[in-house]
Amino acid sequence: MSKSPQSFLLFPPGSVLGILGDGQLGRMTALAAARLGYRTHVFGTSAEAPAAQVTNALTCAAFEDREALARFAEAVDVVTLEWENVPTDSLAFLAERVPVRPGASVLRVAQDRREEKTFAASCGVPTTDWESVNNAQELDAALVRLGRPAVLKTPRLGYDGKGQVFIGPTKAAEEAWQALGSSEGILEAFVDFACEVSVIVARREDGVMAAYPPVRNIHRNHILATTHVPSGLPPEVEAEADAVARRLAERLDVVGLLAVEMFVLKAPDSEGRRVRMNEIAPRPHNSGHWTIDACACSQFEQLVRAVCGLPLGETVPHHDAVMENLLGEDANGWATLLQDPSACLHLYGKTDVRAGRKMGHVTHLAPRLSGGPFLLGEAKA
Ligand SMILES: Nc1ncnc2c1ncn2[C@@H]1O[C@H](COP(=O)(O)OP(=O)(O)OP(=O)(O)O)[C@@H](O)[C@H]1O
Ligand SMILES: [Mg+2]
Repeated sequence: MSKSPQSFLLFPPGSVLGILGDGQLGRMTALAAARLGYRTHVFGTSAEAPAAQVTNALTCAAFEDREALARFAEAVDVVTLEWENVPTDSLAFLAERVPVRPGASVLRVAQDRREEKTFAASCGVPTTDWESVNNAQELDAALVRLGRPAVLKTPRLGYDGKGQVFIGPTKAAEEAWQALGSSEGILEAFVDFACEVSVIVARREDGVMAAYPPVRNIHRNHILATTHVPSGLPPEVEAEADAVARRLAERLDVVGLLAVEMFVLKAPDSEGRRVRMNEIAPRPHNSGHWTIDACACSQFEQLVRAVCGLPLGETVPHHDAVMENLLGEDANGWATLLQDPSACLHLYGKTDVRAGRKMGHVTHLAPRLSGGPFLLGEAKA
């Protein structure tokens, strides 16, 4: 059903963009908003946080604090978020006072791996086989059905591989369940993937979408290490990944960004499909940081444009790129990284260095290649 054009909200430059969350994704969103002439108001928990350092206004309070939320709603024109685990009740409370994009219905799906996979199936998007498991006995039974290896995860609040237990050929269900340390779980069949890709799609209230090209992601210790553009995948696999992301964004009715993480299978399934959805994030994504330096319009600017109802920007990169995350002590190597005058260095202003913590990233650009070489040899024919 199409809405009349007059009903679409436009927030012009000069408006105040509220951002829920104060991490590096909020920081880079605030910087992009400032470039377009917006003012930002960050709702977070610390005045020292990455986004708090670069915003015009700051509210430091718990996401459950209704008084603080009401004051925040008064002070901003439109709200977006950089963290999908904001309580949906709080988002609904805000939405009664100010437009919130994306809305609570999107977060309800994105906050829970079981909801994500159920939703994907309802859209005809395949995932790996999975089962809900809520104790060691259920896990034992699910392992018989799904087979080994498998991955046991907490359904909610996992990130950077936290809340995951790999179950190889010998690990006992009881031991895996204890290691998870949660009252609920999801067991996923292990995907012996060729590679991992992600697609970030922007969508406006009127349904107009723009997607960045699929990128190839390499994880180390379950944390994103590098993102590669172009992906090196055959065009038909890229098209499948792009279609999955667009379909999910449309069916979820996202206004803002949707990042979709996917596994690429080594061989097509019985229906000729190569892609399995892993998880979704309705916000800027680490695998899109390269767009700051390799695209005319970064994922952060695109979020601002989508949320504010502006025309969406160019998503075709003007350079090939490799983005490398700087984790923990890596960021102390900034002086060495800057020895390469073409390195695009981004540091998030975090003072507390912890192993595996995302402290910054560096993007290396190269002139665009035309086409291959393709990663999946047999698809070339
Ligand atoms: N079922 C699976 N089969 C194979 N590998 C998996 C599976 N689930 C997770 N992994 C590996 O672990 C990584 C992290 O898993 P996932 O994306 O589910 O968790 P996360 O903690 O939410 O990560 P992030 O926040 O970094 O996206 C995946 O990118 C993949 O490399
Ligand atoms: Mg992930």
